[in-house]
Amino acid sequence: MTPGAPSPERGVWVSRWGFVLAAAGSAVGLGNIWRFPYIVGENGGGAFVLVYLLCIVFLGLPILVAELGMGRSVQRTPVGAFQLLAGRRSAWVGLGWLGVAVGFLLLSFYSVVAGWMLRYAFLAVSGALSRGGVAEVQQTFGTIAGDGAGSVAGALVFIGLNVAMVGAGIQRGVERWSRILMPALLVLLLGLIGYATTLDGFAVGVAFLFRFDLGALDRGGLLEALGHAFFTLSVGLGGMLTYGSYLPGRSGVVENAVAIVLLDTVVAMLSCLLVFPLAFTFGLPPSEGPGLIFVSLPMAFAQMPAGGFVGAVFFVLLICAALTSGLSMLELAASYFIDERGWTRRQAVTRVGGIIAVLALPCALTGSTEVFGSGFEALVGRSYFDFLVDLVTNWLTPLGGLGFALFVGWRLGPGVRRGQFDEGAPEAVYRGWLAVLRFLAPPAIVLIFLRGIGLL
Ligand code: PFF
Repeated sequence: MTPGAPSPERGVWVSRWGFVLAAAGSAVGLGNIWRFPYIVGENGGGAFVLVYLLCIVFLGLPILVAELGMGRSVQRTPVGAFQLLAGRRSAWVGLGWLGVAVGFLLLSFYSVVAGWMLRYAFLAVSGALSRGGVAEVQQTFGTIAGDGAGSVAGALVFIGLNVAMVGAGIQRGVERWSRILMPALLVLLLGLIGYATTLDGFAVGVAFLFRFDLGALDRGGLLEALGHAFFTLSVGLGGMLTYGSYLPGRSGVVENAVAIVLLDTVVAMLSCLLVFPLAFTFGLPPSEGPGLIFVSLPMAFAQMPAGGFVGAVFFVLLICAALTSGLSMLELAASYFIDERGWTRRQAVTRVGGIIAVLALPCALTGSTEVFGSGFEALVGRSYFDFLVDLVTNWLTPLGGLGFALFVGWRLGPGVRRGQFDEGAPEAVYRGWLAVLRFLAPPAIVLIFLRGIGLL
């Protein structure tokens, strides 16, 4: 299919709220609830949170606006968008490709973590989740993450759900689900925090979250804050460009982007407000790592009334939050084949889903060292899973963000760029945004990269 003729398989958002919720659904996911608390814990608390918030406001938000605006104006997915704006053979098209490729990798590890959540939901229902003390619950996580066959099965179920939903089309698939799930998740988080306020560790947990000890932030912490800011907003890979491309021409991008960022940040902070009080109450170190929520929450469920039921609901909602993020990754990869190769939606999602399932295998087997992990670990020094999460979130996603800032800030002509920004927005807002894309984002990202590799 030639650039210029949008495919009849494309969709359009039904309502502004539907779009905001779906885009926020892409942003709010495992990144907020599973990953954010444990990297805050590993990086010593408040100082990391502060740097992260600065990255969100000054880098993530402006690039989100750039992606959404670009998608809305060209009504095309990343590869086609760059072809249209920079020329078919331009090197910028590589940025579109990067997004599609990283979308595959991202979903491959994401689905494994979501698969663990699935197992936890079942364990919670059966009441087996929170028997014993912290050591036992920690061991349960070790067993589940180390169970290769179980992890493969969980990941496949998650990928299958994604394929079914994205296959159903943009409005019916994504929009309808996001409308219900996001508010439900927020309400449950608030309820659980209400419970956490009654625990001994609440004050210490909150103090940890707001303790601004800059000394606790090492070289890697800065890169992690930057990478996570992009990852959590789903920015840098073209996923938001794809969602923006389903926006009708006149809808405002800036206000939508602010709403998405606010919701995403609220959920991330709420999950910390829940997890750290629990961790301190039950004597878990905040630097527990990827198992942090898988241990702290079951401990709480064991103590509260109807904990088995609440636990099951919590993990199911978490899987749903993961789904609304997974959908956008699959949509990102599949929509390339729909828009540029003329595949039907069904063909695109099943084939792309199949490839992602294969890519998920080494991630799922990573914990069962005898199958795969040990060889890789001996070679690279850490598990394939850890390696991939680091590569995607800390390096490839901000690299894509840098590309978007440079492209929109420097490469687009002034008229085209202004046309992609909201028509009615005050000139000062436009100028501020452009200044950030040109003069703040590129050097900041490059400096943080240099520091990450130890050159600064
Ligand atoms: N923002 C998602 C999260 O925080 O879980 C992850 C994500 C989804 C990143 C979609 C990128 C993407 F295209």
